[in-house]
Amino acid sequence: MSEEKEKISSRYDFWTPFYDAVDNFPLFSRYQRGWKKKAVKHLHASDGDRILDVGTGTGQLLPWISKEFEKGSVIGSDISEKMVEKARTKVDGTDDLKIEVVQDDIEDSSFPSDHFDKIIATFAFTTFPNVDKAASECARILKPDGKMIVLDTGKPEKTHANILFYPMMVSAKIFGRTHMDREIKKELSEYFEVKTLEKNMLGMVYTLKCKLRSD
Ligand SMILES: C[S@@+](CC[C@H](N)C(=O)[O-])C[C@H]1O[C@@H](n2cnc3c(N)ncnc32)[C@H](O)[C@@H]1O
Repeated sequence: MSEEKEKISSRYDFWTPFYDAVDNFPLFSRYQRGWKKKAVKHLHASDGDRILDVGTGTGQLLPWISKEFEKGSVIGSDISEKMVEKARTKVDGTDDLKIEVVQDDIEDSSFPSDHFDKIIATFAFTTFPNVDKAASECARILKPDGKMIVLDTGKPEKTHANILFYPMMVSAKIFGRTHMDREIKKELSEYFEVKTLEKNMLGMVYTLKCKLRSD
């Protein structure tokens, strides 16, 4: 594992016991949960689907995704061992709907090619050390007619919002090794046709729908 990945993995191992508490912090959590729940709805999960939540963290999305359909499978993956352990405590599948959590590095994934019908990534592409590698692996493991939903952060459209954005960006970099200013849409466009579905907080938070490029 590269030095940067070791750092990210141990950083998120460290944060695991506190992650849900921070994530559920009043005020901000209401919005975050709302955006995440909407992103899950954009998956349009249907019976038979095999869905991946990449960079699942503590697995917050997994019960929400599994409520959307009855037959198929939901897999959460993360590079952090402790996050994986925590996420496993939240899932309980049925005979028809399998839910599992695996430790996997999305930049060099162990999943087979053309494997998933749908992939979701929330606040994950800004944390993966190498977006290009992660995007190319997502393109590889997604079925040709598959779909990926990405919820993430970027620079605001109006410069006056930088007063809010820059302190958040700096703390996200220090505490989460997260790069809120990355141009995720541009990076994904190398492999996917990308459509913006929603924008929030002056474009600082957005949801993308990605289909594999046909050319
Ligand atoms: C900011 S958290 C987001 C967690 C969750 N998706 C959410 O919305 O709360 C980013 C997650 O990506 C994981 N991660 C970072 N690099 C990764 C990689 N190369 N492969 C898989 N997961 C990775 C981290 O361990 C962390 O749990």
